[in-house]
Formats: sequence, structure tokens, C-alpha cells
Amino acid sequence: MDKFIIQGPVKINGTVEVSKAKNACLPILAGVLLSAKPITLRKVPKLRDINTMKKILEVMGVKITIEGDDWTFDASNITSTEAPYELVKTMRASICVLGPLLARFNKGKVSLPGGCAIGTRPIDIHLANLEKMGANIKIEAGYVNADTSKLKGVHLPLNFPSVGATENLMMAAVLAEGETVIENAALEPEVSDLANFLISMGAKITGVDTQTLHITGVKELHGTDYTIIGDRIEAGTFICGALMTGGDLLVKGFNPKHLDFVIDKLKAAGAQIEVGKDFVHVKPSKMKPLKLETHPYPGFPTDLQAQFVALMMTIEGYSLITENIFENRYMHVPELIRLGAQIELKGSTAIITGQAPLKAAPIMCTDLRASAALVLAACCTEGKTEIQRVYHIDRGYERIDQKLVDLGVPLERRNDGN
Ligand code: UD1
Repeated sequence: MDKFIIQGPVKINGTVEVSKAKNACLPILAGVLLSAKPITLRKVPKLRDINTMKKILEVMGVKITIEGDDWTFDASNITSTEAPYELVKTMRASICVLGPLLARFNKGKVSLPGGCAIGTRPIDIHLANLEKMGANIKIEAGYVNADTSKLKGVHLPLNFPSVGATENLMMAAVLAEGETVIENAALEPEVSDLANFLISMGAKITGVDTQTLHITGVKELHGTDYTIIGDRIEAGTFICGALMTGGDLLVKGFNPKHLDFVIDKLKAAGAQIEVGKDFVHVKPSKMKPLKLETHPYPGFPTDLQAQFVALMMTIEGYSLITENIFENRYMHVPELIRLGAQIELKGSTAIITGQAPLKAAPIMCTDLRASAALVLAACCTEGKTEIQRVYHIDRGYERIDQKLVDLGVPLERRNDGN
């Protein structure tokens, strides 16, 4: 397994371009199943999760041609409508193939998903609403087995604005008979990006960027040539890194509006951040403690909670963060404490006493965003921090080691032979 060795403390300085958003790319890859016509996606990020979705599509018979970072898909000859356990177990987002399979082939079999160990993460909202659209669903031997005579457009008020469920249902609805209305839909920019991708294929969707999506089913979708949005979570991670280390950093290649809430909170706490159309410029800043709670978009994103715990470690005084989306998303905390951080967990709230002296120790990644927090913390830690199991970070951060090296971080990737 690979590990990172980081010599700190070090400033994260320079210019970085973020990759295209993993969380937009994954459902869009599932959406490729909706059309028999060629689809091209530009600048697809090289990530473990993207590779897993690629394998799922290939197992189903999708032909994928890769030229540089541009991928072209031919889903005209689907030979299987099953997403097997060996692939699905590593990535929860695989469940997103169920909507497209039901919509185009009237059947689909998907292993119950795995993914990050950050909570139980059920898929009840996906399944109950697909049933309302006319799917017969059985859970058998660890698989969701679904079929339908034809999905029908219905009214779907969601009891929680689940990102994955909104995406799955939107994809199911684009080829269904009649109009589907998804109420209390997730507002995350990645959901809108999927909607825009589907619209570019001829889907009839209105209400994008609002909580009510109206989708009128069409007979078939055509091909498209599409470029995914920049990764706001990667951008937020680099912004934290610059602020923590006192760096001067230009973060490019994303829409700062997607981080409005985060940037406003940071600015209110003293962060010097200049905001452009597709970049932010972070300057060395003296910050006050922060108090934050995770919420669905446009609130503070759970996917930046871990990185913000790391940022709060560097700010003098007491900061508070509360995790409301996932019940087990503080696995970075014991690892950060190993470096000397003073963090107390009270239920779903972490109380962080800033500026405790940090000293290098071996630490271990437990999930994707937790590992980003550990990498940032290592940049503020005295000595050589060894971070094990970085395969977690490789799931969602493209060439993170190279990007950090380019920003002046003495980081080495080593295989420990295990
Ligand atoms: C997506 C993101 C993930 C992010 C999360 C919340 C992708 C690939 N992943 O995950 O990075 O952290 O949004 O912004 O886009 N829930 C249910 N039943 C369901 C579905 C969800 O109870 O059927 C619960 C989950 O257990 C969780 C919460 O709702 O507690 C949020 O889940 P959801 O919004 O669905 O997140 P994901 O789509 O899994």
C-alpha cells in the first residue's frame, strides 16, 4: 500500500488548478447508459472511483475510448444490466446506475453499495421512489433486483434532499412515460451538472438549481460532448491548506459561487480571499475561531468538515463544528490527536482548541475526506509525518501528491510493500 511522507511545517504556495468534480462525474458516467448514441466527456479526472465506474460500465458492454483526458462512450450494445458486488462494494455511487438501467432497459441488478465507512448510508429514498415510478424491487442475496414494464412519471416528494437519490430519480425520469416532479430535490451543484448533461442529450428538465425538478420523459436521448464542472471540494481543500499554512495560493478551475457559503464564513473570520469568476486568491491571514454546522447545499458541505477541523486546529481559540449529515464522520479526529491536536468530541460536535503544538507521528487514512484533513495537518506539523493507506485519498483527489509538490510541499509517495 502507498503512504505519504510529509516534512513540515511548510507553506502551501503558488497556483493550483483543480480537477473536474468527482461527484459530478460519477453520476454522469452512469448517465451514459441512457443513450445508444456516442457521448464524449472532456477532462475526466484520473481517480480510483472513476476507474471503478468505468469498470462497471465495461462489464455491462459499454465501449470506452480514451484519448488523453477525453473519454468517448458507445452504449449501443449493452450485454448485461448487472453491477457486480466486487465493483460496487468499493463505491456507494454505483447505485446510480439503477435509474438509467430501469429507464432504458426496464431492468437492473445492482449489488447493495459499500463506499466510505462514514455511516450506515441506506438507499431507501432511491428505492421507495423508484417503486413509486413503477419499479418492482426485490432485495436478494445482497443485490437490489429491479424490473418494470415501463417507468411512469409521478410526483416524488423526497423526505430528505439526498444527492444520490435526486440524481438516480432524475435519470430514471428522463426516459419515463409522462412528467415526474421531484420535490425537495438536492441543490448541490453536482446535481445541476448532471441535469445540464442530460439536457444536452435532449432530456426535458426544468427547475434546475431549484428544489423542484420537472422532468418530462422523452422516447430516446441523443449523444453529447460535455465538460464537467470543476471540483468545489478539492478547491475548498486547497483553500483550507493555504489558510492553515499561511500560504499565498491561487486556486483556479472552479466556480467560486459553488463555495459561496464557505468563502463568506472564512471571510467573516478574517480570511483574505479575493474571488474571481473561476478562481480564488488566498492570502496569508490572521483568523478568528469558527463555528460551523454541516447542512445540505447551499449550507456548509459535509465533504469539507474534516478539512475544516484541520484548519480550526491552527486558529487560536475554541472552534466548533457539528456534523449533521453522516453519523460517523469524525474518524480523522483520533488521528489528528496523535499529532498533538486538542479536539474533544461531544455527540456530533467537535470542539477544537487551536494552536496546540503538533509533532510528527505515524497516522492512517480512514476515508476520502478524512485523508485530505490528515495531509493538510501534516503540512502544519513539525517533523516527518507518515500517512498510511493513502489509497483513500486517491479515490477522490487527482494527482494530489504531484499538485502539493508543485506547491512547495516536501511530500514523498512510498510503497510500504504491504
Ligand atoms: C453524496 C456525495 C458525498 C457527500 C454527500 C452529501 C457523491 C458520489 N457523493 O453522497 O460525497 O458527502 O452527497 O453531500 O456525490 N440517506 C438515506 N437514505 C437514502 C439516501 C441517503 O437515509 O436513500 C442519508 C444518508 O445516509 C446520509 C444523508 O442521507 O446520512 C446524505 O446522503 P446523500 O445526500 O444521499 O449522499 P450521497 O449521494 O450518498
